[in-house]
Amino acid sequence: MAGQDWLIDERGTCTAQTHLHPEPPPQPYRLYRFLTDVEDILVRVESDRQRLKLICPLVRTLIENSPWLAWSVSLPDPETGWSVSMLYDEPDFPLTVQMVAWAGGTVSPIHNHGTWGIVALLAGQEKNRFWRRSLTNPNHIEAAGDLTFFPGDLITFLPDAIHQVEALGDEPTISFNLYGETNYQQRFRFDPQQGTANLF
Ligand SMILES: [Fe+2]
Repeated sequence: MAGQDWLIDERGTCTAQTHLHPEPPPQPYRLYRFLTDVEDILVRVESDRQRLKLICPLVRTLIENSPWLAWSVSLPDPETGWSVSMLYDEPDFPLTVQMVAWAGGTVSPIHNHGTWGIVALLAGQEKNRFWRRSLTNPNHIEAAGDLTFFPGDLITFLPDAIHQVEALGDEPTISFNLYGETNYQQRFRFDPQQGTANLF
């Protein structure tokens, strides 16, 4: 699946990334192998930016070799417009792996994640709007642009990147989502009208 890699930073700046794509794996790149490789990187590398750079090609290898990922997501809940299917979440292990589906037209709250994250879009189109905190009042956010992602695109987020997702089209979007250990004291939902940032 062709696609572009992106990095979103805390100022809402989107930068296209060039990563060396590894050779096709000699054996099936199973989820547990992927998790082991990611854990090794987390132990070895402290910088989130560097971690994302190293994990991104592994995510691409995984999604290109694992069609089952797209089959393991539930349909979006008609009430909320989205669904999360947890693939892996072990207590005291600093990783969460989820498949997420959004019904077309659903719009997420404006939020950050309080940890690094990687979202690989497998189906559908997602418009992301980006924001940054005002330098004078950190509870106020300013729009920082938007970008629409297509299947095969990989979006990497630094912990303070602020975004809002809108699923475009009629079909649900499907994405593979990988997050580090959430710092719930640093994860916020923002309201630009009220100028508030509440724990989320
Ligand atoms: Fe998000």
